[in-house]
Amino acid sequence: MAAKISRGGNKLEFIDLKKQYELMKAAVDSRIQAVLSHGQFIMGPEVKELEDKLAVYTGSQHAITCASGTDALMIALMALGVGPGDEIITTPFSFIATAEVISVLHATPVFVDIDPRTYNIDASRLEEAITANTKAIIAVSLYGQCADFDAINTIAQRHSVTVIEDGAQSFGATYKGRRSCNLSAIGCTSFFPSKPLGGYGDGGACFTNDADLASKIKQIRVHGQDRRYHHPMIGINGRLDTLQAAVLLAKFECFAQEVEARIQIGNRYSELLAGAVVTPFIEPHNTSVYAQYTVQVDDREMVQSELKKSKIPTAVHYPVPLHLQPAFATLGYKAGDFPISEAAARRVISLPMGPYLSKSDQRAVAEALIEATALKTLAAR
Ligand SMILES: Cc1ncc(COP(=O)(O)O)c(C=O)c1O
Repeated sequence: MAAKISRGGNKLEFIDLKKQYELMKAAVDSRIQAVLSHGQFIMGPEVKELEDKLAVYTGSQHAITCASGTDALMIALMALGVGPGDEIITTPFSFIATAEVISVLHATPVFVDIDPRTYNIDASRLEEAITANTKAIIAVSLYGQCADFDAINTIAQRHSVTVIEDGAQSFGATYKGRRSCNLSAIGCTSFFPSKPLGGYGDGGACFTNDADLASKIKQIRVHGQDRRYHHPMIGINGRLDTLQAAVLLAKFECFAQEVEARIQIGNRYSELLAGAVVTPFIEPHNTSVYAQYTVQVDDREMVQSELKKSKIPTAVHYPVPLHLQPAFATLGYKAGDFPISEAAARRVISLPMGPYLSKSDQRAVAEALIEATALKTLAAR
């Protein structure tokens, strides 16, 4: 039986960006209008204003915006001089961008399985994957919770390897009181619209406390140029549009409140769903921004189709671990190589989430999910 949902006719969105826009319309519209009026669409003043604010927020000395989270990761690797022959250790349980950028630069992704409770790379398995060719580790802070950066940094230092945080999903989260993206040599994030801080198009940023890396990142973002038409290194066209910076500045005004709301909504889901499904485990020293609120269920296909009957949208982050993606077939991995990631990929399901998710909608989602998992239990009897 489909759970009853009453929302006065409004469709429940997986992430409700329209509602957010309604609430921030005045600020967003006026910021956009300002850009249309001054006309500096490339590297306009909003870009620097945003970078200053992002640096203060994360506590990083340098925040360098760029065109996407993928570009942030690629620029970070380019700034480290990554190329053919280099090995980059990362997690197989992430969005493809994390490992894709390694292959784009003709370096080799080396996967290490995850911690089954946090879904983040298992620091205790890192050392066995490090070789003389290892240049960097990209640790992803998945679903909005930071990986264990103290442990990762300690191991990396021992082997002179650089640590990059893929904080595409964790901007705003804290690890031992410190902000995501300021936990390792370079932090990278994404401003994809559905991310905790999202623009109205693609966007991203790199963060670092190393002045030399910051200057390389800035050059790489603009075709490797140090001054107009002088190119000491190879770079890309990786700038953030001024219009996106303007949107992000408007949204940033409410970001702290939104992070608080996300935490409360995440905690509430966990209370409502306790005992029915495997709810997210958040380390006591972490706060999660719940970019995704993701649980584990036994029969995901059935649960997803039951929720669909109740008009509840869900998503799977991610159904195929990276080592089993055809694009990485040449790396030579096979099923069974990373059993924890593979099990997670079979069982995870993400629920509607966002800072403006109403209590009644949340309750309806939880009730429908509990009902769907109970069906599974009944069927098993
Ligand atoms: C973990 C992770 N890394 C990297 C990216 C890439 O970010 P973007 O879509 O902004 O290129 C994403 C975005 O989906 C992501 O979730």
